[in-house]
Amino acid sequence: MKIGINGFGRIGKSLFLQLLFDTSFDIEICAINAIHLTINKIENYLKYDSTHNYDKNFTINIDNEDKSYFNIVYKNKSHKVKLFSERDISKINWNVDFLFEASGAFLNTNDCLKHNVKNVLITAPVKDNTPTFIFDVNHTNYNSQSIFSCASCTTTSISPFLKYIDTHYTINNASFTTIHSSTSSQYILDTPNIHSKSGRSSRSIFNNLIPATTGASSAIKAVLPQLDGKIHGMAIRVPTNNVSLIDLVIECDKYCNINEICENIKRLNSKIMRIEEAELVSCDFQTTTFSTIIDKPSMIQLDKNKFKVLIWYDNEWSYSTQCINMSKYIYEKNFLNNNNNIKYNFINDYVSFKNKNVLIRVDYNVPFDKNGNISDNFRIVSTLNSINRILKDMPKRVIIATHLGRPNLKKSMKENEKYSTKHLLNEISKLLNKEVRFLENGVSYKTLNEIKDIENQDYLYSLYEIDEHVSPRLFNNNNKYPKIYLLENLRFHNDETDFENNYFNKENSEMYKVWNKLGNVFVNCAFGCSHRNHLSMYGYEYNSGFIYYDYLMESEIKALEELTINRENKRILTILGGAKIDDKLPLCNALLPKINNLFLGGGIINSYIYNQNHKEFIETLDLNKKTFLMNDGYGNSSLNEISKKNLNGYNIENNYYYDIGSSSIVQLYNLIHKNDIIFWNGTLGVVENELYNNGSKSLLNYLLKSGKRVIIGGGDSASFVNNYIKKSNEKYNLDNLHICTGGGASIDFIIKGKLGFD
Ligand code: 3PG
Ligand code: MG
Repeated sequence: MKIGINGFGRIGKSLFLQLLFDTSFDIEICAINAIHLTINKIENYLKYDSTHNYDKNFTINIDNEDKSYFNIVYKNKSHKVKLFSERDISKINWNVDFLFEASGAFLNTNDCLKHNVKNVLITAPVKDNTPTFIFDVNHTNYNSQSIFSCASCTTTSISPFLKYIDTHYTINNASFTTIHSSTSSQYILDTPNIHSKSGRSSRSIFNNLIPATTGASSAIKAVLPQLDGKIHGMAIRVPTNNVSLIDLVIECDKYCNINEICENIKRLNSKIMRIEEAELVSCDFQTTTFSTIIDKPSMIQLDKNKFKVLIWYDNEWSYSTQCINMSKYIYEKNFLNNNNNIKYNFINDYVSFKNKNVLIRVDYNVPFDKNGNISDNFRIVSTLNSINRILKDMPKRVIIATHLGRPNLKKSMKENEKYSTKHLLNEISKLLNKEVRFLENGVSYKTLNEIKDIENQDYLYSLYEIDEHVSPRLFNNNNKYPKIYLLENLRFHNDETDFENNYFNKENSEMYKVWNKLGNVFVNCAFGCSHRNHLSMYGYEYNSGFIYYDYLMESEIKALEELTINRENKRILTILGGAKIDDKLPLCNALLPKINNLFLGGGIINSYIYNQNHKEFIETLDLNKKTFLMNDGYGNSSLNEISKKNLNGYNIENNYYYDIGSSSIVQLYNLIHKNDIIFWNGTLGVVENELYNNGSKSLLNYLLKSGKRVIIGGGDSASFVNNYIKKSNEKYNLDNLHICTGGGASIDFIIKGKLGFD
């Protein structure tokens, strides 16, 4: 996990040191933002401290190449840390997974969104309703919230004890005063302070006891809502530099004996709460990692169900420990890639594309009819939600990139012309209802320059009100932003598909270099191509900017995970048909162990009959135990014949199967009956031909009425199903149906259980 720290005062520094010393925690400290610190002061700042005593056996070197970095090494573990000194946090490219917001300046979700980091932990109580978690108090309520607070040091100290007492004795009411060391928000000498509500907070911290408020009461409510209204507290700031003491009186519903409480807490063997029996003073608790230390000698039994207790805490160090404990919990939940917990970085409500240059990889590999019109736009329509979501944020620029078909680069440009993505331009522009500009030079330096020119020109136009009639705008877009571009077919570059080759050399690839410069946010929506290890799919490097998967990816992955990690004990039937046999058959070996039944039909049967290799392969699939072959249907010697013949078995005398027959369909229905989830990839007949689509139609009708979970994978099957439903008069309940935009991709996902390549 890559970690950043914003704000490098007492908490930021404590966090940094504890993260450095904890060599078991698999993290990299990557960046800090400290507005008052310069890189040549960093060593002095980290090695000396007026408060804490800690191990100084670490080395610090300023990076030779880039002086904004320093390398810090402790017990052989090193971190390369970038030092920012930036007041405007939206200018920082953190490039981390997890950020501790320790500046004290950003105390609500809106402000913290500016960091543009997936996980932000605020080390202070918040001013809005951003969720609050304290480790070992309510941390299990954490549910992947992107921005959250760890409350204050006082809340962190008192809450574990309150929770314990309330669980065992039920608290009626409690009141506390925290005798709190001074913090940097206070003044050394009396100083007028317009921000302070109370006249006392502007007074000198020397020689004064200063009554103050504490945000703890409201923060306690956030982590222990059952105690809302029962706890009240205040603070007295005192002239010590660290360690604080809560003086707490609790009245319970039940008889609560202080000795019994102490004995029971000792037995918990907790890492955060403990009993101190010695008679100690505040200095003795300096740099403790326990957030809640009960001072046993001073406990007083006030009544049968009422007692007084003092609780020690290190308001800097042990508070930071608890923030780190929370980050470890999130690391385990979100970042450890055990198979049951694969983390994809999906777009969520907190991600903002404002002012970003967004590069979007889509799969618009759509079919065209004979007249050159798009015959099915399902793949384009499926991405609109995501693209509109991105556009809504007002990015600076959006570049849409896709492959189209499989151009043969050994042939002439003219012969490949039909694969140009310019044929998609009108449809995309129509569906988005926006002007889209075509970038004919694809992923190249030329394109980078072209974009620069367009944007400069537009900038100039915006500066001078040029009369559009005299000099019409080159790019006639009323809104300056966002600009939308479509790149030429990605497969017009050799490097796109060469990327999967072990010898691919990034250093020599113009496409690779330019691809990583086209945007500072990369959004991958191309589920249909996720099984291809192509440059545009997996060649965008993390340090070029942010990487997200879009809503389409999210819905595909969620549906397919029902067949993998979220399968429970469900039985799966896979029906494979369609024409692209060479793509599918080799996958059967890997697929079979993951499913309960496999039914092969459609064009695959002709291949079984007429292709000796395919026949041999299919016969290795343990026929009739798990795998079933279609064995009757309709067909003829060619599709040009105007009638159809009844065909039976595998000796069909130079005829071909073009549709499934009644006895095979019955066999298939039996299999559907025996399984819980039906994954169907590839139609069972030549569905474009009216003579031969009855079988696939009956199967679909049966599936939609079966109440079973049905997942359709594949471009052609998806078109067939979408069309059938559109034209049908039946009212189907489609809640159980998911139509994937990718065929090969969905099979690949089921086999691997995840996206991407290792
Ligand atoms: C598809 O149509 O399956 C995807 O767009 C991937 O295309 P491909 O099979 O040519 O790689
Ligand atoms: Mg395909």
